[in-house]
Amino acid sequence: MATLTRRTALILGGIGAAGVAIGGTVFAVTRPDATPGSSGVVSGHGLLEPTELSSVDGRLAVTLEQSRRQVTLAGREVRALSYNGGVPGPTLRVRAGDTLSVSLRNGLTEPSNLHVHGLHVSPENNGDNMFVTVEAGDTVDYEYVLPADHPPGVYWYHPHQHGSVADQVFGGLYGAIIVEDPTPLNISRERVLVISDVTLDGSGDIAQAIAMDTMSGREGELLLVNGQVNPALTARPGERERWRIVNACVSRYLSLRLDGQRMSLLAIDSGRFESAREVEDVVLAPGNRADLLVTAQTGTSVLRSLAYDRGAFGGMMGGGRAPTSADATVATLTVAGEPGAALDPVAAQPVPRDLRAATVTARRELVFAMGMGGGMGGGMMSATINGRVFDAARVDTTVQFASVEEWLLTNTSTLDHPLHLHVWPMQIVEERGQAVETVRWQDVVNVPANGSVRVRIAFDDFSGRSVYHCHILDHEDSGMMGVIYTYPPRV
Ligand code: C2O
Ligand code: CU
Ligand code: CU
Repeated sequence: MATLTRRTALILGGIGAAGVAIGGTVFAVTRPDATPGSSGVVSGHGLLEPTELSSVDGRLAVTLEQSRRQVTLAGREVRALSYNGGVPGPTLRVRAGDTLSVSLRNGLTEPSNLHVHGLHVSPENNGDNMFVTVEAGDTVDYEYVLPADHPPGVYWYHPHQHGSVADQVFGGLYGAIIVEDPTPLNISRERVLVISDVTLDGSGDIAQAIAMDTMSGREGELLLVNGQVNPALTARPGERERWRIVNACVSRYLSLRLDGQRMSLLAIDSGRFESAREVEDVVLAPGNRADLLVTAQTGTSVLRSLAYDRGAFGGMMGGGRAPTSADATVATLTVAGEPGAALDPVAAQPVPRDLRAATVTARRELVFAMGMGGGMGGGMMSATINGRVFDAARVDTTVQFASVEEWLLTNTSTLDHPLHLHVWPMQIVEERGQAVETVRWQDVVNVPANGSVRVRIAFDDFSGRSVYHCHILDHEDSGMMGVIYTYPPRV
């Protein structure tokens, strides 16, 4: 059994010094027409992409050093939290069957840890274990062994220290993980687009959320792609781009549109469709990812995120500001010049697994509720699953290894809650009382305000203690999270 290695980081104080040869953001040529905004925010620069670190011979070993430091965000110099000096952190590229080792150095002044969101890996020991805490100044070595049949797709990493997750992610701690396709797809180019939102204060710090914002889930004033406001992308007509999009926002839903271009969706999360689906828009709850093909058509198109109604919380005593995100510009794609080389169609993908005909071994219901406790005058918000707030010492749900379960997710509150389950993806089988006609696998499933969704889960391959929670990270920090224990296989 692997044991957790924990050593005190002697490099404390040596943040960004020699030995950390990785990280940062690759700088590209900026366009001359880049315009500074009202508060010193600069938009319109050429898109930058995070540094890429790829596995070799089945292994990728990286150091991720978390620190609070000066970075360029939205074209401004700000103090943010970063992995290896970049916001986002480096993109980690691995393959099914690989071992990913991450040495997490916590250079913050508070506890943190690491989660690999969506990876189907063990939740135990030094695997994807969110019960591990990495104290300030400590280093913990994580190791993730991807099964040989791990689904390809877009994943991501971020801290999971209960109570600080929203602050640390909002502060800048997030990065993409790509599990490569066994056979490369026919594309002209690939881009990683990590979308986040942030609010900056006048002195170059990231704004603290106020209590009211944490009830609805904070949304940042600025929408960022790889740390930039409205970056510029260019392509030639007929080129096929593959966009790996991560919604790393703490609470904001993205409803993405790219008028004037052809979009087809390969997958949401790890759930690859049999063939790419033509789409007009792509809705991503916090934590969701999209693996998207864009076929470039001449002209300039703005990637926008349309206003999304995720409900409102409260109403009593003026509490609960409604999170009514307005339309926002995400990026601008300019397609011009000679047509790119013609490409053959993207090959059909393997037929996805379908649990709709499976034998269900257990059924359960998770009820998401919100309310104000603590008596008169407001008091504490409660965000609960089945009436309880998170307790790391309690197991809420026990499941049998290799069982197939059906979960009814019910939301009695007036805000949407995106449910995320670690380790095992969920197949959505019923929405708004209607059976879902296609195979849809996701690891974040939105449970609409006063609505319900039914999912099926196959608890294969791994056992141990893990969690499910609302991916509005302010709700997770408030306790909208449960512990799940999967028994080891019987021998
Ligand atoms: Cu993206 Cu438990 O988290
Ligand atoms: Cu996760
Ligand atoms: Cu929630």
